[in-house]
Amino acid sequence: MKVLIIGSGGREYSIGLALKRDENVSKIYFAPGNGATDELGDNIDISDFSELANFVETHSVDLTIVGPEAPLVDGIVDYFRERNLTIFGPTAAAAQLEGSKIFMKNFLARHNVPTAKYVETDSLDDAVSFIATLDTPIVVKADGLCGGKGVIIAESHDEAKVAAADMLAGSSFGDAGSSIVVEEFLDGYELSVFAICDGKDFVVLPAAQDHKRLLNDDQGPNTGGMGAYAPTPLVDDDIYTKLDERVIKPTLKGMEEEGNPFTGVLFIGVMVVDGEPIILEYNVRFGDPECEALMPLLKSPSSELFYKAAKADLKNAKIEFYDKYAVGVVMASKDYPYKSSPPAEIIIDNIYHEDLEASSHISYAGVSRDEDGKLYAVGGRVLVCVGIGDSIAEARDRAYMLVGQVHFVGKQCRTDIAYQALGGVKV
Ligand code: AMP
Ligand code: GLY
Repeated sequence: MKVLIIGSGGREYSIGLALKRDENVSKIYFAPGNGATDELGDNIDISDFSELANFVETHSVDLTIVGPEAPLVDGIVDYFRERNLTIFGPTAAAAQLEGSKIFMKNFLARHNVPTAKYVETDSLDDAVSFIATLDTPIVVKADGLCGGKGVIIAESHDEAKVAAADMLAGSSFGDAGSSIVVEEFLDGYELSVFAICDGKDFVVLPAAQDHKRLLNDDQGPNTGGMGAYAPTPLVDDDIYTKLDERVIKPTLKGMEEEGNPFTGVLFIGVMVVDGEPIILEYNVRFGDPECEALMPLLKSPSSELFYKAAKADLKNAKIEFYDKYAVGVVMASKDYPYKSSPPAEIIIDNIYHEDLEASSHISYAGVSRDEDGKLYAVGGRVLVCVGIGDSIAEARDRAYMLVGQVHFVGKQCRTDIAYQALGGVKV
């Protein structure tokens, strides 16, 4: 099978790594890929949907997997399906679950999926009246896609009013903030749960935890994610059952009833409050860096999972996971997440430790390669060091041993990834 992966991040690199160890996969293409994905397959510099579809036809690509949300919201799946090409991801209409927070919140309310109390509005007066009814902190969100940055957690009623006014005036998030959601703050622990869906049936991956803040102890600004691990012991069978029955099944049924059956990755942002999973948000793609921690845990051939989901045939798939843990530590460049940093050469020590070589690896993201084959850190999040082990502590230790072997000027990483599962331990 030949597979095309759309995207350029560590998430797409890790999907490529999983496909690479799958005997059924003979060729991998990345569009556009990054400076390291050319180790796994061929990078092609195309983004136009019709040119991508032409490439898929002329190169007999059997399956296209879409990594990021933007092409999904822009309708790449609709376009490929019109041309009878097999693609893994939701249609533009189904991708509204991520593309519009208002669509998502109203959908959850229509189908009785538990979520934070909210109003959605384009009126400042309505926002202000609702803010007055809430305890602090108060959450104010822009409706549209803001690269994960359209959420303000206001510590006072006044701060919430100012945030709502700024968003509605278009001064903070442009058009994405012309409508907003104001909601109650949920106090609990956060999970990232991924269901691979084929419209009707689904497979739930081991639950993960991301670390969104830049600095240890969840301090500093929000980022795309500084590290992730899975499976997390913070999820027990009771929570998995509640997620299946109260969240995933009603969502798939609701999307189908409304004429938008959901195929692809349903990324469920969950807050567990007093043992109850409450939905913060949906995304329609893998989380990054969660994907880098999850792909190595997949025991079944990854092409089977993605191909059967794309073909609405998951009920005939038997998907298994290794009984192991994975921890991914993001190494970011100096000025992340504020601004871009100058390119810095990446030097990796020779890995001499046999144990480490077999149970850790790097997923590359913001990197480029020069003519001599040298890799440079050029992006915000540069790479993810992933450790695999029989316990979270073992996986974490291996990930950080690898971190210690990677050098580039200005590198930064958190030293407490997986701390919630390890009783607060830092390396
Ligand atoms: P979102 O883009 O909606 O996931 O929000 C980004 C982050 O803001 C989430 O991952 C949470 O950490 C936080 N957040 C969003 N909504 C809430 C809420 N209602 N209560 C507490 N934290 C929230
Ligand atoms: N790591 C969270 C995200 O990809 O949105």
